[in-house]
Amino acid sequence: MLYRPSLRLLSATALLATLSSAVKVNPLPAPREITWGSAGPIAIGELSLTGADSDSANAQLVTDAFARSWKAIKDLKYYPQATEAPIPTYAEFPGATQIPWKPAAPASKQKRTTPLSEVHLKVEDWDADLQQGVNESYVLSIGDGGHTIDITSSTAWGALHAFTTLQQLVIYENNAFSIEQPVTIKDEPMYPFRGIMVDTGRNYISTDKLKEQIDGLSLSKMNVLHWHLDDTQSWPVELKTYPQMTKDAYSAREVYTQDCIKDIIQYGRARGVRIIPEVDMPGHAYSGWRQVDESIISCGDSWWSNDLWSYHTAVQPNPGQLDIINDKTYEVVEKVYKELAGVFTDHVFHVGGDEIQKGCYNFSEPITKWFADNSSRTYNDLVQYWVDKTWPFFMDSTDRKLMLWEDVVISGEHANIDPKNIILQSWNGDVVNIKNLTNRGYDVVVSSSNWFYLDCGNGGYVSNDNRYNTQINANLEDGVPNFNYGGIGGSWCAPFKTWQRIYNYDFTEGLTDDEKSHVIGASAPLWTEQVDDTIISQKVWPRAAALAELVWSGNRNGEGKKRTTELTQRINNFREYLVASGVMAAPLMPKYCLQNPHSCDLNWDQDALNKLPGAP
Ligand SMILES: *[C@@H]1O[C@H](CO)[C@@H](O)[C@H](O)[C@H]1NC(C)=O
Ligand SMILES: *[C@@H]1O[C@H](CO)[C@@H](O)[C@H](O)[C@H]1NC(C)=O
Ligand SMILES: *[C@@H]1O[C@H](CO)[C@@H](O)[C@H](O)[C@H]1NC(C)=O
Ligand SMILES: *[C@@H]1O[C@H](CO)[C@@H](O)[C@H](O)[C@H]1NC(C)=O
Repeated sequence: MLYRPSLRLLSATALLATLSSAVKVNPLPAPREITWGSAGPIAIGELSLTGADSDSANAQLVTDAFARSWKAIKDLKYYPQATEAPIPTYAEFPGATQIPWKPAAPASKQKRTTPLSEVHLKVEDWDADLQQGVNESYVLSIGDGGHTIDITSSTAWGALHAFTTLQQLVIYENNAFSIEQPVTIKDEPMYPFRGIMVDTGRNYISTDKLKEQIDGLSLSKMNVLHWHLDDTQSWPVELKTYPQMTKDAYSAREVYTQDCIKDIIQYGRARGVRIIPEVDMPGHAYSGWRQVDESIISCGDSWWSNDLWSYHTAVQPNPGQLDIINDKTYEVVEKVYKELAGVFTDHVFHVGGDEIQKGCYNFSEPITKWFADNSSRTYNDLVQYWVDKTWPFFMDSTDRKLMLWEDVVISGEHANIDPKNIILQSWNGDVVNIKNLTNRGYDVVVSSSNWFYLDCGNGGYVSNDNRYNTQINANLEDGVPNFNYGGIGGSWCAPFKTWQRIYNYDFTEGLTDDEKSHVIGASAPLWTEQVDDTIISQKVWPRAAALAELVWSGNRNGEGKKRTTELTQRINNFREYLVASGVMAAPLMPKYCLQNPHSCDLNWDQDALNKLPGAP
C-alpha cells in the first residue's frame, strides 16, 4: 500500500470554501503563461485521446503516456492541500497594530455538469527524436463552453509535458472529477537541459529506485537523468567485451545488465527523460578497470591520504586513476566506450575528467619516466595527452557531444579543447566559473556545488576521524570554528542545500547575452557515499522540483521579482503529489503550513525577498 497524504481530510474552513468550487491548481513547474477565465469548474468524464494517429512510433508512446496519466488521475483522486492565495500588503493596513494574514477563501462557482470527455491532440512533428534541444513546447486550452481539452505541441515530447500538467489540474471532490476553466496554458522550458545526477558507483541504486527518480523527473518536466555509472569503489555495469569488470560490483546482484540498462533507457524515453551515461575517466578509476589489466591503473594500492595532505593520492578513499601514458589504457578505454556508446542512445556521453590528483601519478612508472624524459612537460601536457589520445574514438559520430566536468579546462591540471562538440558541467566557483567557461565559448550545464549539490550537509563519512573528538569549542582555524561547533561538520560542501537555496540561485547574473546563450541548463548532483535505496528519493525530492521550476520558467515573476514565496505552496502540494505517485519525497514543513498558506512565512512582507542586499 502506498502512503497517500494527498487524500486529504478537508479541514472545516477549507470544506466550506470548496464545496461547490473547483480550485485553480497551480501546477509545478509554473507554466510560462497561464490564463484563467471565470466561467467556473467543469466536470470531467471518462477521458479519451484523439489525434495521436500518426504512423510514427512516437504516437504509440504518446498514447501510452496518456493512458498512464489518465490512470494516475483516477487512481490518485488528487485534491491539493491548499492553493496559493496572496495575502494583504502592509499598505492595506496603515497604522495597524495587529497584522492579519489569512488569505481570502476562493469564491464558489456553479459547476457545469456536461462532462468533458475528449482530449484532442495535434502534434506538428511526430518524428522528432528525444535529443538535446528538441522542442518541448505545448499549448493546453479548455475554452469557455468548449467540449474538448485541446493540446497542440511541436513534438511528442511537448505532448508528454501537457499530460503531466493536466494531471495536476484535474481534481477530485464530492466523488467526482472536475477542472477549473476556461484556461489556456502556453508553455515551454527556458533551458533545454534539466536534470539530476545519480551516482551508482559509491553505493548501488536498484533499477526500481532509478525508475522512481525518472517518475519524479517526468512529473516535474525535467528531461535528463545523468547516470554516474561507476567510481573507484565499484563497477556495476555489465560489459560483454570485459565480463570480468563486474567482479568489482558490490555483489553479483548489484549489477546493471545491459538488458536492465536498456529497460531504464526505454522507461525514461516513455516519460521524456534522456539517460546520459557517465564513465568517469581518467580520474576516479580503479574498480572494474583493474580486473582487465592492473597496469592501466596508477596508485590503486597507495594509501589515499597519508595524513599529510601533500602526499595524498585521492580526495577520498579509495584511490585510483587511469595511467595516461600506458598505451594499453587506450585499448581498454576504447573498447569500454565503444560498447557502452552502443547501449546508450543519447548523443551526449559524459566522459568525466574531474579531480585528477598529481600525487597519484608518482606511482606510475610510465608517467614519471615521461616527465623525466623532458623536463619542460607539465601536468597540463599530461591532461592534453589524454584528450588527444581519446578524442578520435570518443567522437565516434558527427552527432556526438561529449560532456565533461569543467576541471578538464579550468583546473590546475587542464587541457585545451575546442568548444565545438563539448558540454562542460560547472560545479566550482559559482558564476565566476560559469562566466569564464561561457566566455570561452563552452556550453555549460550548471551544477554549482554551493547551490545544487543534494548530498551536502550530511557530515563527514571517513572513519578514524579525530576531529570528531573535540570536547570543547577549541577546534579553531584562524579563530573560526572549522569542523564541529558551528563548523562544516565534515561535509566539504555544507550546509544542506534547501529548496529555497536551490530556487534562489541566479546562475546567469553578470553574464553578457552571448555568455548567457551558452548556458544550456542545470543539473543537481547526488553523490551517494551516504545514500542508497533507503533514502535516495528523500534526498532528491522535492528539492529537485525547485530546480525543475528554476530551469523551466525561472525564479522571477513578470515584474522581475523573486517568486520563491509563491513557490512555497506549489512545492508543498507537489511534494504530496510525488508521494501519492510513489516517489518518496521528504516533507518540507509541518503539514499545518501547507494547509494554511503563508502561515509559516518568516516575513509577513511578501516583498521581503526583493529587499535583501543586492536584490533588484
Ligand atoms: C518550439 O516550437 C514553438 C511552436 O512552433 C515555437 O514557438 C518555439 O519558438 C519553439 N521553441 C524553440 C526553443 O525553438
Ligand atoms: C610526488 O612527487 C612530487 C615531486 O617529486 C612530490 O613533491 C610529491 O610530494 C609527491 N607526491 C606523492 C603523493 O608522493
Ligand atoms: C618537451 O616538452 C615541451 C612541453 O610540452 C614541448 O614543447 C617540447 O617540444 C618537448 N621537447 C621534446 C624534445 O620533445
Ligand atoms: C578562466 O580561468 C582561467 C583559470 O583560472 C584563467 O586563466 C582565464 O584567464 C579565465 N578566462 C576568462 C575568460 O575569464
